Amino acid sequence: MSHRVRRPVIAGNWKMNKSPGETTAFFREFLRAHQPREDRTVIVFPPSLSLAAARVAALERPDVGLGVQNIHWEASGAFTGEVSAGMAADAGASYVLAGHSERRHIFGETDEQVGRKVAAALAARLVPVACVGETLDERRADRLRDVLLRQLDAVLDAIPADAAEKLVLAYEPVWAIGTGVNATPADASDAHRILRDRLAERYGASAAGELPILYGGSVKPDNAAELLAADGVDGLLVGGASLDPAGFARIIAA
Ligand code: PGA
Repeated sequence: MSHRVRRPVIAGNWKMNKSPGETTAFFREFLRAHQPREDRTVIVFPPSLSLAAARVAALERPDVGLGVQNIHWEASGAFTGEVSAGMAADAGASYVLAGHSERRHIFGETDEQVGRKVAAALAARLVPVACVGETLDERRADRLRDVLLRQLDAVLDAIPADAAEKLVLAYEPVWAIGTGVNATPADASDAHRILRDRLAERYGASAAGELPILYGGSVKPDNAAELLAADGVDGLLVGGASLDPAGFARIIAA
């Protein structure tokens, strides 16, 4: 896949961190440390309540894309506490995470719900970053392939074939998220290969080769370059290390 010329995507998932005020402070420092570059696509996923602050802070930096971490699949209605894809788009989001492992494992999101969220995102012209990944038990039980394909197929089954090219995927092994234990570049390549082969089966090799697959799980400034260089890895989804403006800028530059 090294022939692909697409720009690596470096995305920061802040999770439930940074108030609006803290978001403003982050961007003040981050936009000094990180200058626009042609060879990276940069996305920040703040909490929904901090999106407006991020949007204002990055007004003069359209090179930094913004997204939300979760949406509901319905457009509006009696869903207390939820936000819709259309609201996120109107508030300045261009991207949305779907199926992050914390949503699946802490909040009980199902494959089917993740599929509906991805479809809702596309309908609102947001780019969905659909996350898949196995737990340590599943990996030890040799179920990596089964789990990844079950999660991926649920997303692909929920959208028309001609919409698949608008997706971004993220492989995030659950055992590597927030643990300080990153997957090796070889582990990441193997998992990305499983996903890419399925995309090729469903849509053809050329379409499959165009779809970015990010790696996430304990990415740090000092392992970012080797993970990004791994075969089939088109970018990084960074959690904890994206909270530090200088550190996130270093990861982008890796
Ligand atoms: P981490 O999180 O980088 O803190 O491991 C990654 C993620 O959950 O997206």
